[in-house]
Amino acid sequence: MDEKKVIFSGIQPSGELTLGSYFGAIKNWVELSKEYSCYYCIVDMHAITSRQNPAELRRHTLEQLAQYIACGLDPKDNTIFIQSHVSAHAELAWVMNCYAMYGELSRMTQFKDKSAKNEDNINAGLFTYPVLMAADILLYQTDLVPVGEDQKQHVELTRDIAQRFNGVYGEVFRVPQPFIPKVGARIMSLTSPENKMSKSDKDPGGCIYLMQKPEEIMRSFKRAVTDSETVVKYDPENKRGVSNLMTIYASATGKSYSEIEKEFEGKGYGEFKPAVGEAVVERLRPIREEAERLIKDKAYLESVYREGAERAARTAYKTLRKVYKKVGFVEK
Ligand code: TYM
Repeated sequence: MDEKKVIFSGIQPSGELTLGSYFGAIKNWVELSKEYSCYYCIVDMHAITSRQNPAELRRHTLEQLAQYIACGLDPKDNTIFIQSHVSAHAELAWVMNCYAMYGELSRMTQFKDKSAKNEDNINAGLFTYPVLMAADILLYQTDLVPVGEDQKQHVELTRDIAQRFNGVYGEVFRVPQPFIPKVGARIMSLTSPENKMSKSDKDPGGCIYLMQKPEEIMRSFKRAVTDSETVVKYDPENKRGVSNLMTIYASATGKSYSEIEKEFEGKGYGEFKPAVGEAVVERLRPIREEAERLIKDKAYLESVYREGAERAARTAYKTLRKVYKKVGFVEK
């Protein structure tokens, strides 16, 4: 019997993977994968809540799979799969929709942000998106959900929905906890450090991508916004740009903020910024090289996502069958 606790997490293949999703999520997935039974998903069904070019979505999905593996997630030890391959996600999402309230969905800050940014496409999927996320998590009887800070509210909603359902029907779902890293839970844009680093960032210099070339990464770090002082000091209230660079450096090297302050004492940003760039380049280099190799091996990637979906489906349908029975659907 598998005694290990369960982890579920996912990333939308709506663009290239960013340094934000690496430090906020994937890096921790890799660390936790040794102790837990893990399901890591490429959530393509979430991605279509904003308009996607079909060929690009397909490309991003496969590239993301290659990047998960290149980051250190071994498909033998982890269940890595594509969301749309396990239809239980859509099926449970429908049931969960009937246990999620209009009011609570209206309060989701990501919905408010995204609908303000996409006024011409505030579709129902964008609104009910956290319910699909709840279904993703609850299908696997998940204990822990490693995510960045911006997803915490969605995991809390998942807990509320699970508790509501359990309150009516008994202990059907395990109630999950979010796992938010102490450092790196919110990586900010390099050009506007008051905004989150995001793949939909309009300013190309603000965001770093896992597959970016070293010289482009260096250029972006050298141009990163700092402040009019010259001191490398962690002070996220008053020195947002520098503090963000310190978080990135800390995440890339494992050093603490005080170690970084000491390392750059008496040195200006002219030395600090390229040092952060280099640390990131070195951290990403093996990932990029391995992902470039894997992406060419279509047969291998196909075998990984096929096997992953089969494994995921076994657990997912067990939960779904239980839910269908509880709500009163006739067994087929
Ligand atoms: P997504 O695709 O926007 O982001 C993927 C993961 O990366 C984290 N992240 C960041 N962390 C720190 N700093 C940043 N700048 C940054 N940008 C992104 C996110 O917090 C997330 O952990 N709804 C989710 C995907 C999802 C999911 C799930 C996650 C769908 N179903 C079930 C967990 C469990 C999303 O849009 O993440």
